[in-house]
Amino acid sequence: EDTYLEGHFDAVIEANDRIEPRDWMPEKYRATLVRQIAQHAHSEIIGMQPEGNWITRAPSLRRKAILLAKVQDEAGHGLYLYSACETLGVSRSELTELLLAGKQKYSSIFNYPTLSYADVGTIGWLVDGAAICNQVPLCRTSFGPYGRAMIRICKEESFHQRQGFELLSTMMRGTDEQRAMVQESVDRFWWPALMMFGPPDDDSPNTAQSMAWGIKRDTNDDLRQKFVDMTVPQAEALGVTLPDPQLVWNEQRGHYDFGSPDWAEFKAVVKGEGPCNTQRLAHRQRAHDEGAWVREAATAYAEKGVRA
Ligand code: ACO
Repeated sequence: EDTYLEGHFDAVIEANDRIEPRDWMPEKYRATLVRQIAQHAHSEIIGMQPEGNWITRAPSLRRKAILLAKVQDEAGHGLYLYSACETLGVSRSELTELLLAGKQKYSSIFNYPTLSYADVGTIGWLVDGAAICNQVPLCRTSFGPYGRAMIRICKEESFHQRQGFELLSTMMRGTDEQRAMVQESVDRFWWPALMMFGPPDDDSPNTAQSMAWGIKRDTNDDLRQKFVDMTVPQAEALGVTLPDPQLVWNEQRGHYDFGSPDWAEFKAVVKGEGPCNTQRLAHRQRAHDEGAWVREAATAYAEKGVRA
């Protein structure tokens, strides 16, 4: 029977079709998905913090309403992703425990501070831009619930990216001081945004197997290139400089050449030594503790079997 089930799995992967939760799957396929989807979900939830930092200080009611809605969308993305992960036989509370114990990761990008209001725009433009680049191909990932969550997330993420670009373009049409704020913010976020795609392909232990299983559809370096190619014209339209002297159009390749991010910094941030790692996890832990009564009340209510 095992060979039959394995044959079915292989045929589905071969046909670029979807594996669904009730289908047989290799244990390592399941574990890889749990790792990636959980890391993705945690990133959405931890990712609420850097921008949440500016909600009380947004410069107008309009900007505040936009930012509030955006941060709430990130919470929603986290929830769809935890739900997708639960179809693989792990619970959201287990995943939260693993995050808080430092046993599961979240994206390196959210360990950098948001020092000025321009960072809200830069995160929308560059960070959400990188996220879209990485996530649009994941709509075609081989695991059904993950792919379907991605479709909805990408729609909202595209909107977030435009909101960031609009914010920055408004600032760029403002005062010299505002333009300087935007440039300073872009200078800080450019390299960390490139690191979001993960280590270079020859230093990425998971890419080959994840591509073979159709979990990932592109390599880290291919997506990074796509992001650079997509972003340079947008930077020109905004009138900001990207802080890379090696950034130049390569006619022969039909792509931009660009410099290498500081991979030692990337490794340190992933290991927990970034500027905000401790603060981000401490904040998440505090929110978790303060929310205990809500979880208890919801459980007690559910146990009564009352239907709304
Ligand atoms: N931040 C933190 N850890 C990272 C990052 C990063 N930017 N990039 C890679 N890593 C980790 C990997 O998780 C892996 O560690 P693990 O085996 O303990 O999980 C290790 O570094 C080696 O990397 P890879 O072998 O390249 O790992 P993988 O094949 O999983 O590729 C990638 C990494 C591209 C991030 C992939 O997991 C992915 O596409 N994930 C879904 C997208 C996502 O998580 N986005 C979150 C940020 S976007 C947002 O939320 C707005």
